[in-house]
Amino acid sequence: MILVEWDDTLILDMPQIDEHHHKLVDILNRCYRALMMHDHSHELGEVVAELLDYTQYHFGTEEQLMAQVNYAAAASHAAAHRKFINSVHNFKDRSEAGESFVAIDVLVFLKDWLVGHIQNTDRAFTNYLNERTES
Ligand SMILES: [Fe+2]
Ligand SMILES: [Fe+2]
Repeated sequence: MILVEWDDTLILDMPQIDEHHHKLVDILNRCYRALMMHDHSHELGEVVAELLDYTQYHFGTEEQLMAQVNYAAAASHAAAHRKFINSVHNFKDRSEAGESFVAIDVLVFLKDWLVGHIQNTDRAFTNYLNERTES
C-alpha cells in the first residue's frame, strides 16, 4: 500500500536534502497505510505528529541554507512551505476527527504538492547551490 513511489525524479544530488525528502515520502506512505487500515488509534496519531514535526524540521533546514547563500527566491519558497504546513494541520485535524475519506483527499493533495515542490521549487534551489559550489 504505497501512496508515493520514491524514484530518480525526486533525487536532487544533495545528500542531506535527498535524505530528508526520502524520509518525508516514507512518512506520507505510513500515514496512507494507517488511514487505509482504519487505524485511528495509536499508529495514525503518531505518524501524523511525526509528519508535522519532520516537515517543520526539513523546511527549517532548507530555509537556513537559503538564508546562508542569500538565495533570491527564498521568500517565495518559504511562503510555499508555510502553505504546506497549513495543509498538514488540516490533514491532522481531519484524521483526528476520524474523517477518513476527507483525510485521504488531503493526503493525496499533500503528496501531489510535495512531489511538485521537490521537482520544481527545491530543484531550482539545489541547482543554484550546486552551480555555486562548482564555480
Ligand atoms: Fe524540500
Ligand atoms: Fe522546499
